Amino acid sequence: MEKFIVSGGIPLIGTVHISGAKNAALPIIAASLLTGEKVVLKRIPKVSDVFTMLEVIGTLGCKSKWQNRVLTIDTSNLFSTEAPYELIKKMRASYYVLGPLLARFKQAKVALPGGCALGSRPVDLHMNGFNKLGAKVKIEHGYVSCETKELHGNRIILKGLHGPSVGATINVMMAASLATGVTTIEEAAREPEVEDVANFINACGGKITGMGTSILSVEGCKKLKGIEYNIIPDRIETGTFVIAAAITNGRLTIKETKPEHNRALLAVLKNYGAQVETDKTSLRISSQKEINSVSIKVAPYPDFPTDLQPPISALLSLTPGNSTIVESIFENRFMHVPELRRLGANIEMLDRYTVIIRGVKQLSGAPVMASDIRASAALILAALAAKGETHISRIYHTDRGYEHIEKKLSKIGAKIKRVLDPNAP
Ligand code: UD1
Repeated sequence: MEKFIVSGGIPLIGTVHISGAKNAALPIIAASLLTGEKVVLKRIPKVSDVFTMLEVIGTLGCKSKWQNRVLTIDTSNLFSTEAPYELIKKMRASYYVLGPLLARFKQAKVALPGGCALGSRPVDLHMNGFNKLGAKVKIEHGYVSCETKELHGNRIILKGLHGPSVGATINVMMAASLATGVTTIEEAAREPEVEDVANFINACGGKITGMGTSILSVEGCKKLKGIEYNIIPDRIETGTFVIAAAITNGRLTIKETKPEHNRALLAVLKNYGAQVETDKTSLRISSQKEINSVSIKVAPYPDFPTDLQPPISALLSLTPGNSTIVESIFENRFMHVPELRRLGANIEMLDRYTVIIRGVKQLSGAPVMASDIRASAALILAALAAKGETHISRIYHTDRGYEHIEKKLSKIGAKIKRVLDPNAP
């Protein structure tokens, strides 16, 4: 296993180029299965979750090939409709193959994902959605099996206890795109990644409308065709670099992004005291002398994203005054808190969903451990601002979602290196 060693205290200055969105790439790779043809995907990030998804579709019989940054997937010779536990347990998003397999082959068997570091994360909304489309869904021996003679359009309400579900909206939308008749998905997730999957399906010949709203209409098609498609930029990677500029008192130009996808974060940063300028595809951020504590309520898009909650916690740890964060999506999304405390942060957990962060003057480097992708980003950000050296272990979490993060950070002045972790088991 590897770890990062970060020497903090250097303002980050320069230009960063953003990669394609991991959370759009994963379902779009799965949605390629709907076509039965060749699909060419541009700007797919080379992160380990993408390689896991390619392994999953590989076990089904798909061939994939990289040429520089272009990924070609041939979905014409599938020989299996079963995705094994060994891969699903590595990455929950593997579950995205269920909708496309069910739609195209009328049957699918995918291991039931268990809980993860963020909490229990059920898949009931996905299963209810498939059921409403006319599939028989059962759980047996740790697998979800779905079969149908034909999927039929229906009215489906997808809201769960914690609001709309990105995964269920995408999975049901993919299945509905090859059903007969029209499906209306109410309480649909509005995240840009949902919209990107819908745009992909439409480019393949699908008929989806209502993207970006909470009501999606999916008119089923007999067949979808293979196409070339360009993935949207990663708004969470963008947000991570925006926060990197603020936390190091730096000055960054962030290119090949879509600032409109980060409106909630940019509004928070303006209140915080950063100077932000945007145009269509880039943004510039620099810190002011006066900075203020802020209160954040994490909620589904277009509100503040849960995936940027750990990174902004790192920033608020160094912001004078008391900041509060209320997380409303995952029951266990403060795993980074004990690790930030090891660096000197003063964070009090009021309950499972609420923290008060009392800003301290200085963080100091220490050994810390990443627990998930975004917690690892929070630790890197804190380490970039801390005095001295921070050793961050279990960075395989970082590699799941950030493409070459240490190279991108080094280019803008950070002192970060990847080394073998001699203490890893
Ligand atoms: C996706 C993102 C993840 C992000 C999350 C919320 C991917 C690969 N991952 O995860 O980075 O943090 O959206 O923006 O895109 N829920 C149910 N029943 C279900 C499904 C979900 O109760 O059937 C709950 C979840 O436990 C959670 C909430 O709904 O509390 C939102 O989860 P969801 O939007 O589905 O997250 P993912 O799609 O798994």
